[in-house]
Amino acid sequence: MAAVRRILIDCDPGLDDAAAILMALGARAVLDLVALTTVAGNVGLAAVTRNASGLLALAGRTDVPLHAGCPRALVGGTLRAQHVHGEGGIGGVDLPVGVSARSEHAVDAIRRIARESGPKGLTLVPIGPLTNIACALVMAPDIADCLSEIVVMGGAARVGGNVTPVAEFNFAADPHAARIVLESGVPVVVMPLDVTRQAVVTEARIDALRTLATPVGETLAAMLAAYRGRTGRAVLHDPCTIAYLLAPDLFRGEGVAATVDTASDVSMGRLVADWNGQTGRDPTVTIMSDLDADGFYDLLVAQIRALS
Ligand code: RIB
Ligand code: CA
Repeated sequence: MAAVRRILIDCDPGLDDAAAILMALGARAVLDLVALTTVAGNVGLAAVTRNASGLLALAGRTDVPLHAGCPRALVGGTLRAQHVHGEGGIGGVDLPVGVSARSEHAVDAIRRIARESGPKGLTLVPIGPLTNIACALVMAPDIADCLSEIVVMGGAARVGGNVTPVAEFNFAADPHAARIVLESGVPVVVMPLDVTRQAVVTEARIDALRTLATPVGETLAAMLAAYRGRTGRAVLHDPCTIAYLLAPDLFRGEGVAATVDTASDVSMGRLVADWNGQTGRDPTVTIMSDLDADGFYDLLVAQIRALS
């Protein structure tokens, strides 16, 4: 039996965030979700925090500490995605009313929990803009030694972006934060659009959740149906991070040095990978490119089935 892995998910739910959070909670025997932190992204901080609380309540896990974080990016504006996720952030689907977020700010919680976890004792799983993670790393550089990995959904390596021709939402929303994280020296696994766009939400895959005939399965099916209805071709970006932690063999990728463009107005937020080793920097970033999509969805359904 693999050792239980301590993880902290930093999120902006968000319909695909919801799938990732529930998937992680279903994998309780392998993943110990020590805290859930929120960051403004798809919708504003109050809404993402309310959604995160409702997801914990839906899964019967109001014991998981919830901490609200940064309400905006380090520099510049407030990029949002209501057009994808709906005004409330979860496609208009009702969630139970959960517990309030703790009074401790998410950035303080990340720093504290990392230190409590000891050397390489914590895996961070950011699935929204990286503002909270970057703040924690800048405020407390020592926590880098406490992180085994940072598994990020973000970026577009060899495909077009979903916000600009070259930038993906999480990196475009806070490019400076994304750059800080990718250049931190902590091993970072990036799930870019190159791989997440292979996790297509189909009617059959929604039915597989609906036929679980459980409150979680039916609620997630309703969310994915709303997601598909709003976007036409919905893909599960964020759950790719959790799937990697549970079954890394579902993925293929390459280790490189990488950063994020924070200078250009044309390509601001672009993931820049040093595929040919021209920068001389250590290849501390693994950029994923291929996914076994059927295996991914089988894994997702199995974790959701584990939740009553
Ligand atoms: O580009 C996709 C990412 O942006 C996902 O994390 C989605 O939830 C949004 O935050
Ligand atoms: Ca997200």
